[in-house]
Amino acid sequence: MNRRLGVNVDHVATLRQARRTVEPDPVAAALIAELAGADGITVHLREDRRHINDRDVEILRSTVRSRFNLEMSVSRGIVNIACKIKPDQATLVPEKRQEITTEGGLDVLRQKQKIYSVIQRLQKKHIVVSLFIEPDKKQIQAAYDVGADAVELHTGKYANALSLKAIKQELKRLKEAAIFTTSVGLGLNAGHGLTYINTKPLLIEIPGLEELNIGHSIMSRAVLVGMDKAVSQMKTIIDSVQ
Ligand code: PXP
Repeated sequence: MNRRLGVNVDHVATLRQARRTVEPDPVAAALIAELAGADGITVHLREDRRHINDRDVEILRSTVRSRFNLEMSVSRGIVNIACKIKPDQATLVPEKRQEITTEGGLDVLRQKQKIYSVIQRLQKKHIVVSLFIEPDKKQIQAAYDVGADAVELHTGKYANALSLKAIKQELKRLKEAAIFTTSVGLGLNAGHGLTYINTKPLLIEIPGLEELNIGHSIMSRAVLVGMDKAVSQMKTIIDSVQ
């Protein structure tokens, strides 16, 4: 099975913003990641623009040759930008100002109408819409009901699980969610907290995963060994599971 590796380059912009300067450029990082085998580039344009900014998404739109996935909240201003930029895919995420990174999944059940209308707007622009949700049957059903094309199952709890028992429990939850997702015909993505160690067991256990979005672990390795090596090593892991 051909699974996509979406490389999230937000951290490159975080480093740039540490000095409010122009380097390192996430656009250059994206280019190298693609040359090293990334099947897609993912960035999160946050409402507070703490890392990725409007200039980045504009340039990425015209330079990414693989697949451009924009993580975004459902706020009107951000949706307007997405409709103008037209990424290949929009992944809708919850967003809180104080959080370090996206914490929980999107609560689709509680804001069905809002999410439905955002999906309608994006799909009219031919943007594939994925919803970042907890591996929970009710949320998956709600994602289906509001017309999403795909879901991205939140793997954070799996990634943070410490005991073997907890890891097994999270894998079971993800597996059941994955089976339900494909049974209703939604695309199946996953992400958050995935590393060079926990990605392979996930792929072995969870059938039908089409796309993994990985940022922190790849960027951490890239700092030490280079973007090229870091991306190709993750790609090798993903390709090793058939
Ligand atoms: N998927 C989504 C929806 C995210 O919000 C993030 C974090 O930006 C990721 C994947 C990547 O997570 P990580 O940086 O932990 O690999």
